[in-house]
Amino acid sequence: MSDDYLTSVAGHYAREGSLAERILTLVTAQRQGDGPLSFKELAPADQFHLRGKDASEEMAALLDAKPGARILDVGSGIGGSARLLASAYQAEVLGIDLTASFCADAAALSAATGLGDRTDFVCADATNIPLGDASADLAWTQHVAMNIPDKGAVYKEVARVLKPGGRFALYDIMLGPTGDPHYPTPWASQAGASFLLPPPEVHALLLAAGLREHVWLDRTAEALGWMRERQAAMKASGPPPLSLQVILGTHFGEMMGNVARNLEEGRIVVQLGMFRKPLD
Ligand SMILES: C[S@@+](CC[C@H](N)C(=O)[O-])C[C@H]1O[C@@H](n2cnc3c(N)ncnc32)[C@H](O)[C@@H]1O
Repeated sequence: MSDDYLTSVAGHYAREGSLAERILTLVTAQRQGDGPLSFKELAPADQFHLRGKDASEEMAALLDAKPGARILDVGSGIGGSARLLASAYQAEVLGIDLTASFCADAAALSAATGLGDRTDFVCADATNIPLGDASADLAWTQHVAMNIPDKGAVYKEVARVLKPGGRFALYDIMLGPTGDPHYPTPWASQAGASFLLPPPEVHALLLAAGLREHVWLDRTAEALGWMRERQAAMKASGPPPLSLQVILGTHFGEMMGNVARNLEEGRIVVQLGMFRKPLD
């Protein structure tokens, strides 16, 4: 992919200073006791997708990893899901992400929660995954494809690095039936930086990459319910001490407001899938 594209994605997400330090300061300020910090305590800020850890737990159940599995997290952000997988399955998780500062934050948060030896984060492009053929048992991705024009290239790379029989879970925002989304959103400040496709087109690209469908579910209603719950809680008691605001900064309210409006108006949909690389 072009250098301009790679720089613009990383520029959209990168923040001044250490997100990991900010998150750890906020968590420390609100926790009681001084026992070891659990990765679960970071979830309101490090699960950078709709429905947060609920969505990750649903996906993890679909993946059904064996203990010690080698899992690839494509577009791992600051590593919340990599830690969840590493902990739930004693898995070895490699997260790749285009935003170098996110990879550094992810590593720092894993070290702080005692999962530094089971998670690794590498700055890399999802269309050129730095892994050998048939080297990962499982793969997953959450809310990354919206940033990537050539999604087919990502799915081909996933199919290449998966072992035969390996599963790939994905959870993504896609284009809804009613028209273009309102921006800014958490993934793009304007339409030119957003690359959404309708679910049937994404599904066709997954099959064209040689993957076979096992699960393909619309999770739009659940995502909208989750957004409404959060909006109601914010109205009642103000912003929570720890949230995605740490990552999104001053545009948090406007971006999340647009996500809710886009879901309500059918401009975006949320899709959950699980695919498998055939054995032959
Ligand atoms: C909305 S965040 C989701 C992060 C993480 N998957 C999660 O759910 O917590 C999108 C992430 O995709 C990454 N990303 C976007 N384009 C990418 C690409 N071509 N290759 C690798 N990562 C990419 C961004 O840097 C960002 O961390």
